[in-house]
Amino acid sequence: MHTGLKIPRHAAIIMDGNGRWASARGLPRSAGHKAGIDALRSTVRAAADFGIEYLTIYSFSTENWSRPRAEVMFLLELLRRFIRQDVAELHASGVRIRVIGDREGLEKSLVTMLEDAEALTRNNSKLNLVVAFNYGSRQELTRAARLIAEKVAAGELDPAHITPELLDTHLDTAHMPAPDLLIRTGGEERISNFLLWQSAYAEFVFIPEFWPDFNAEIFARALKEYSSRERRFGGLKAQSA
Ligand code: FPP
Repeated sequence: MHTGLKIPRHAAIIMDGNGRWASARGLPRSAGHKAGIDALRSTVRAAADFGIEYLTIYSFSTENWSRPRAEVMFLLELLRRFIRQDVAELHASGVRIRVIGDREGLEKSLVTMLEDAEALTRNNSKLNLVVAFNYGSRQELTRAARLIAEKVAAGELDPAHITPELLDTHLDTAHMPAPDLLIRTGGEERISNFLLWQSAYAEFVFIPEFWPDFNAEIFARALKEYSSRERRFGGLKAQSA
């Protein structure tokens, strides 16, 4: 069906444009986020069908707290609803759920829900759905630096042994492959504090459509674009090496 497509092992998505999708229809922003959940459901199915191993979605950034309180409450409630309504089906389809981001500052009952979903699905291997919630890359790197500094201060770690690989193991994404493809919908072309370290060699694909309109067909278009890119990781083209 999708012959000739190179499939990234790890695709990450910045799901942008919910608000603009809603405004264009004269609807409240919350309607855009709700429609965004539907797009997310079909995207998870499509990712599994494409054979992608890791799908990371940016669902709430550390900066999103500055939105009006009602919108923040709505997004928190959507996450709860998503976990409540979808975890059983995701589990049945072999999806492993992992959550990255800062859990401090989240309500205890929400953290418990997230931990339960992770525990329930921990042995699944069809697709890893990595939900970035209360996530910010600078904050994640700062937490990692603090953890490493504490080990040095306690005499457990020699600063000479601090390598990129060691830093990797102190990130929320420890033991996950780095994203190969980073997609952003909604037409804007920036990274917005998402997976800064991990995206060092990711291919970026920007999609003009708003997130609620994202579907398997647009996903396939992004994969086609990804397939046409030549990844050199800082090296030379294969033929000129
Ligand atoms: C960006 O659109 C989207 C978000 C800030 C939230 C993304 C959330 C979802 C897709 C649904 C929630 C998913 C889970 C798992 C909780 P925007 O509001 O920035 O849109 P705009 O740029 O048009 O204003």
